[in-house]
Amino acid sequence: MAHARTTPFAMPLSEALGHVDRVFGIDSILADEGRDILKPYYLQSEPGYKRVHSQKGCMHMALNPDGVYTADGYLTQIRDVAYQIRQVQASRVLELGSGMGFNTIALAPDHAHVHFTGLDLMAHHVRTAQKDAAHLKNAAFRQGSYTDIPADLRGADVVFGLETLCYAEDLDAVAAQIAAAMAPGGRFVMYDGFRRADFDAAPENVQIAARLFEVTTAVTGGFHTIEAWDAALSRAGLVVLRRDDLTDQSIAGMRYLHNRAAKFFRSWKYRALKHVMPKYLIRNAVAGLVGPYMIEGAGPKSGDTRAAITYSVLMAEKPR
Ligand SMILES: C[S@@+](CC[C@H](N)C(=O)[O-])C[C@H]1O[C@@H](n2cnc3c(N)ncnc32)[C@H](O)[C@@H]1O
Repeated sequence: MAHARTTPFAMPLSEALGHVDRVFGIDSILADEGRDILKPYYLQSEPGYKRVHSQKGCMHMALNPDGVYTADGYLTQIRDVAYQIRQVQASRVLELGSGMGFNTIALAPDHAHVHFTGLDLMAHHVRTAQKDAAHLKNAAFRQGSYTDIPADLRGADVVFGLETLCYAEDLDAVAAQIAAAMAPGGRFVMYDGFRRADFDAAPENVQIAARLFEVTTAVTGGFHTIEAWDAALSRAGLVVLRRDDLTDQSIAGMRYLHNRAAKFFRSWKYRALKHVMPKYLIRNAVAGLVGPYMIEGAGPKSGDTRAAITYSVLMAEKPR
């Protein structure tokens, strides 16, 4: 359960959707559903991620098990990856969608005998990661896609991806790439947002909040269900060992971003930034505002807590 000290919602869902509609137009945002906006989104968003989200270049959600947001929550997923590295006594680790390098740069110093490679689609992310990792002998970053993992990166003992595989389109093809990149006995870990299997049963406004979040984080095809990933990994020959819903741990971080975004929507000075800042960068404020409703439902006072999205982990092993 969410801890009592968790920051409260800044406003009811209906008010939040009203703000989004007035400032950006809900229909105009949702018109991007199904469109490939990944590159402009990340090109425009990098300064925002660094200024608002994490100066160290973290681009994933914090997981705070005690219900209070702290930046330490960005390390929760990394601690799990470190555990897998120890479990299989890894010598090679491959991070998919490594972004600005936060995870691999956090892991490499503690695992001097492990070689880490980060693979990311965006050349500008790779350059940032390479610059920040210049002091590390055991970490390298490359530009490339997990839809076509370079053959020389195969044989990794641990392959992991944090909030990146939501962008995959053909799950079977990507799962086959992941399986091919893993050494026998190797582990695969993914943390991500997932549409609940009963997404369509969530209240309409909660579904709209989820779709707004998806589009304004460039997941324009919608989050996948964890069942779809589980099935694709199994078809690729992996054995799924763990599938856990960690939504509760993501509430504090989501509400923290929500309250920051609420300031933007409530102040004309901040809203004026919309006219001078790039579209995809400024639309991150929408994701911040609506995030909690999609994972918690319309909010405690609405009387309806049916949600649309989970934050979950999936872990699988490649049989020997
Ligand atoms: C939300 S960010 C997460 C970055 C990083 N995993 C982290 O935790 O900070 C998603 C990342 O996935 C990358 N990405 C999206 N599609 C990709 C693909 N097909 N192959 C490799 N990287 C991809 C994006 O460029 C972006 O850096």
